[in-house]
Amino acid sequence: MIKSLRNQLVVALGLLVSAVGLLQGISSYHLCRTGMDALLDMRLEQVATRMRDGFAEGIPQNPARGTQDDRDVVVVVWKPDEATPFRTTDPSLRFPRDATAGFGSYQVNDESWRVFTRQDPTMTIQVAQRNAVRRELTREAATQTLWPIVVLLPLVWIAVALVVSRSLRRLKRLGAKVQGIDTANLEPLPTSGVPAEIAPFIHSINTMIERLAQSIESERKFIADAAHELRTPLTALQLQADNLAPHIAPGNQERFRELRRGIGRAGSLITQLLRMARADAPMGATPLTQVNIATVVTSAVADVLPIALQRGLDIGAEEMVEAHVRAVETDIGMAVKNVVSNAVRYTPDGGTIDLRMRRERDMVWVDVVDTGPGIAETLLPRVFDRFFRANPDIEGSGLGLSIVKAIAQRYGGDVSLRNRDDGRSGIVASIGFPVEESGVATEANAATATA
Ligand SMILES: Nc1ncnc2c1ncn2[C@@H]1O[C@H](COP(=O)(O)OP(=O)(O)OP(=O)(O)O)[C@@H](O)[C@H]1O
Ligand SMILES: [Mg+2]
Repeated sequence: MIKSLRNQLVVALGLLVSAVGLLQGISSYHLCRTGMDALLDMRLEQVATRMRDGFAEGIPQNPARGTQDDRDVVVVVWKPDEATPFRTTDPSLRFPRDATAGFGSYQVNDESWRVFTRQDPTMTIQVAQRNAVRRELTREAATQTLWPIVVLLPLVWIAVALVVSRSLRRLKRLGAKVQGIDTANLEPLPTSGVPAEIAPFIHSINTMIERLAQSIESERKFIADAAHELRTPLTALQLQADNLAPHIAPGNQERFRELRRGIGRAGSLITQLLRMARADAPMGATPLTQVNIATVVTSAVADVLPIALQRGLDIGAEEMVEAHVRAVETDIGMAVKNVVSNAVRYTPDGGTIDLRMRRERDMVWVDVVDTGPGIAETLLPRVFDRFFRANPDIEGSGLGLSIVKAIAQRYGGDVSLRNRDDGRSGIVASIGFPVEESGVATEANAATATA
């Protein structure tokens, strides 16, 4: 069973054309043989006519044996009342003299002959040819008619394959587009230039994309609204806790601190939820600007510098590249900061965090390399899932990397996390964005900011 539509069409059309070619070949072979037979008969008849017109006298009276080629026609001319032929081109052959006029087949000297007999009042003329020779001649001629088909059939298969491939190329392109559909790319498929047979299919996919986009958008709106609504009571809670702080008895201080930490965690979760809803939202009216990635990296380092200093972390940005990305600056800043803050959060005190930039074709990448514990390989594929935390002992909402991914995809970029492969434990988190070409500048080694 052939699964590929292309192969099915090529085989079906190829077999069809081959069958037609074969039938055509067989019929032309037989037609040619019949035509050739008629032609050879006509020749026998014409020779007989020439003999009657006086050519018979031209035949030598006693031709030497063996002067005739096997393929030649044999002519025997009888005069009435004569026992031996008046003329013959081969005296060893005797065809029945009383043969009926016209064509007939006779066995003479152990060979089969096709004989044309002409009975005239003044002479009987017999013109004969070996049936074996006739068969050979007709077969040769008929075989010649098969050559064009033999040569053309492979060419027809190639042509069928090319035509089918060409017709299906558009389908293949559409397939690639359908495959490219995901929640980050919910553009409807183009309908112009689509073959009529596929148009309803594309229409259904587009309707589905539209519904999917609507449901994703309503989910995003719900998250944004819920987070927004939760912020007010949480702020009130925070305020009440602040007011209560001076009145908490010393014995309850620890439990009260735990309560405030809980309120703080809920606050962070709400902030992250709002950021995620914003990162997932369609491009708003905020104008895009030329964002200098080196500046964003330096600013991300500066943001975490106080806490890094406090925890004895050595954080540095080196190998800086001058590259610009067309985006909303806060989005790019948020993405880079999330990755840097992960490195700070998950690297034990006294560790090292290096930030490096690199250009790869039309992308600019920021690599954040830490000396933390890394992530189990089995958990790595899940780090971009919402609320996923590989290490539940360390506080976090599990949304940071989902936000980073949404921002990267929004600008046609990408983000990846992998364990270090230089023998040390730690993570290499890479975030990349397409470079705006007008912003391409020369590589510059910026100053290393080291804590
Ligand atoms: N540099 C890192 N080293 C070790 N583990 C990491 C690193 N970065 C991320 N992780 C793991 O991946 C998980 C997901 O990270 P993510 O940033 O999405 O969430 P989070 O840091 O837990 O919370 P949030 O960033 O929303 O405050 C983390 O919980 C952590 O276990
Ligand atoms: Mg995080």
